[in-house]
Amino acid sequence: MKNIGVIGCGTMGGGVAQVASEAGFDVTVMEIEEKFLTSGMKKIDKFLSKSVEKEKITAQQKDDILKRIKGTLDINDLAQCDLIVEAAIEDLQMKRELFQKLDEICKDDTVLTTNTSSLTVIEIAEATKRQDKVVGLHFFNPVPLMPLVEVVKTIKTSEESFKTAWEFIEKIKKIPVAAKDNTGFIVNLLLIPFLLDAIRVLGEGIASVEDIDKGMKFGCGHPMGPLALLDLIGLDVIHKVATIMYNEYKEKKYAPPPLLKQMVLGGYFGVKTGRGFYEYGGEEPKPMKF
Ligand SMILES: NC(=O)c1ccc[n+]([C@@H]2O[C@H](COP(=O)([O-])OP(=O)(O)OC[C@H]3O[C@@H](n4cnc5c(N)ncnc54)[C@H](O)[C@@H]3O)[C@@H](O)[C@H]2O)c1
Repeated sequence: MKNIGVIGCGTMGGGVAQVASEAGFDVTVMEIEEKFLTSGMKKIDKFLSKSVEKEKITAQQKDDILKRIKGTLDINDLAQCDLIVEAAIEDLQMKRELFQKLDEICKDDTVLTTNTSSLTVIEIAEATKRQDKVVGLHFFNPVPLMPLVEVVKTIKTSEESFKTAWEFIEKIKKIPVAAKDNTGFIVNLLLIPFLLDAIRVLGEGIASVEDIDKGMKFGCGHPMGPLALLDLIGLDVIHKVATIMYNEYKEKKYAPPPLLKQMVLGGYFGVKTGRGFYEYGGEEPKPMKF
């Protein structure tokens, strides 16, 4: 395995391109518009510059990592890749169209993987004629810092493709765990109900934003409180993921609480819009009153 393809150079795709290149792979990353490639590559450059400052890598290593990443707007440039990680937006129709196209253009033995958070891998794989070669690779945000990757085997994935994907994760120095193709895999299955419950506690007026987060930080040893984590992930993303999980399982624990819906409709997505459960922009995030 030498050539890795990545679809999408956003939050996740940019991170995957970076870590694959750091491990010595030649990476081709595909985007829909030049401006997204430019902004994605800028983020990688910024991250690597900080690593040089901290003396984790040399300036030469930074240049080499950047040189191994090639950007493109043409999906046909992925044809010779050995493994592809799709990290475009969480939209089933779009992912299916991308996989159908990849199936047409890629070498017969190319393994196609998706970073989907909440869809099942089989509904994406089903758009191809190589369902045995489709695997889920669920990375965590921020990719360069988070060690875990869930490696997801569908009922059609072959042992060989699963092994290829697993070994790729080991080569990029991440920690793989095996998960079945259930919506939410392992981590989101446990994390999403917990985060939604924190919103319910707030919505029911049981405690303030600050005290809910303090409770889980100082009572349970979490590195950050659930409401701060929700703001970091993005309330829009959580709403989408929870809705997909609720539609799949029809269990109340996955149902987006009314307060989450209101915040998304109001444009309060969290850190990325400057306001969520906290207000950002000042020196410290300021907890909002509800
Ligand atoms: N953000 C997270 O914390 C997180 C964590 C794990 C998995 N995921 C999953 O990873 C995927 C990407 O999420 P993200 O947060 O990086 O989103 P993002 O919006 O930051 O990035 C998506 C990128 O894909 C590009 N894109 C859209 N359509 C495309 C296409 N047809 N071809 C090529 N590029 C295209 C967009 O221009 C954008 O730059 C989603 O499936 C998401 O569910 C996200």
